[in-house]
Amino acid sequence: MKVLLIGNGGREHAIARALIRTGAHSRVLAERGTPLELFAQAGNPGIDRIATPVDFGDANPADPNSSDAIAQRARDLNADLVIIGPEAPLVAGLADAVRAQGIACFGPGKEAARLEASKSFAKTVMDEAGVATARSFTCQTMDEVDQALRTCTTPHVVKDDQLAAGKGVLVTADSDAAREHARHCLDRPDGAVVIEDYLDGPEVSLFCISDGTHVVPLVPAQDFKRLQDANEGPNTGGMGAYSPLPWLHDGLADEVVRTIAEPTVRRMAQRGTPFTGLLYCGLAMSSNGVRVVEFNVRFGDPETQVVLERLESPLLDLLDAASRGTLDQVAAPTWSDDAAVTVVLASPGYPVRARTGQTIRGAEAAEELPGVHLIHAGTKSVGAAQDSEAHATLVADGGRVLDVVARAATIDEARRAAYEAIGRIDFPECQFRRDIAQWPDGLSA
Ligand code: GLY
Repeated sequence: MKVLLIGNGGREHAIARALIRTGAHSRVLAERGTPLELFAQAGNPGIDRIATPVDFGDANPADPNSSDAIAQRARDLNADLVIIGPEAPLVAGLADAVRAQGIACFGPGKEAARLEASKSFAKTVMDEAGVATARSFTCQTMDEVDQALRTCTTPHVVKDDQLAAGKGVLVTADSDAAREHARHCLDRPDGAVVIEDYLDGPEVSLFCISDGTHVVPLVPAQDFKRLQDANEGPNTGGMGAYSPLPWLHDGLADEVVRTIAEPTVRRMAQRGTPFTGLLYCGLAMSSNGVRVVEFNVRFGDPETQVVLERLESPLLDLLDAASRGTLDQVAAPTWSDDAAVTVVLASPGYPVRARTGQTIRGAEAAEELPGVHLIHAGTKSVGAAQDSEAHATLVADGGRVLDVVARAATIDEARRAAYEAIGRIDFPECQFRRDIAQWPDGLSA
């Protein structure tokens, strides 16, 4: 069975690893009587080692003008399934182009991807579906911004309505900073901002897989979004994550499916834009109950690195069934009781302006520790012939560079292993948090 994975960051490396690791008991593969042949967008040294790299040349999955060329490439490969990792290709309409080629695709079409691409659209759908979220105002002028800032609770929560590569949300007690962020968002073409009440309580990420009708939850994780320890510094894409969450009440996943994911999926189907793929429910465990902070339409990064590390049943069967509308025919996923922790190593200057190009040493020594592996998020391999990886030098090539993942019987053990592994890695000037997976201090990450 040929599977093509689009995207070449840490999330996609984690997906590729999980597809292979859990593939041995795949019912889909058994029924087809074929092994998994995993193809993946080239350019990530971690993924390139475990999947066949596919170079798209000038075609960029995030560019709507490239969607047809990439879908055609999937057809030329005879792909049976395409899995789209990042949001940008989904928002660009790549899933629609792949389906138009008659190929099953994991990921929502362009219209359904608006749940992530437009914060105001997501709020509209939540309102229509009766999903609990913060009261919000969508603003197109600074007068509207000022009115909304006066009306909403503090600290101020100001969200760029559009995709902003992790830089769209500002939570601040400083009204001037809130106004400045809003003005910056409004200055973008078609700019709008969503200003909303602040939600208290710790945040939880719960991924729900949907085939457009049915919903299957994965296990909760917590992401640490701020750059520095004790939740200081700017927001990032995420500096670390862990799962399970021992402090969380049992039954959260069922509650979220019943009150959030299913009503949203139902509403998207009623709108004529069914949601197929992964609905990332970013949640606040607020004093008033569970509230949606945001929806994303793809696996979260770096939460995927810990969630999928705990998955025991075949990931391929879930994603394939979601793509074909048969999720109700797949056994519920099973999970290890082990804990998983990931700590992100980021380039100096991230998230404002990452300085890249540092040579990274010690990756092999880090992975010699029991239960530890590295996920490549923004690296490149320099100076090696294609077939002699041993002589390659690993170089930082992005904002978030490496995710150190550790799995162990307890969170404490996994956490210790992750930091011991970091001690073996020489990555000059890298930034990382030292308090990942610590709670209660880490609770409101
Ligand atoms: N870790 C946050 C995100 O994936 O959006």
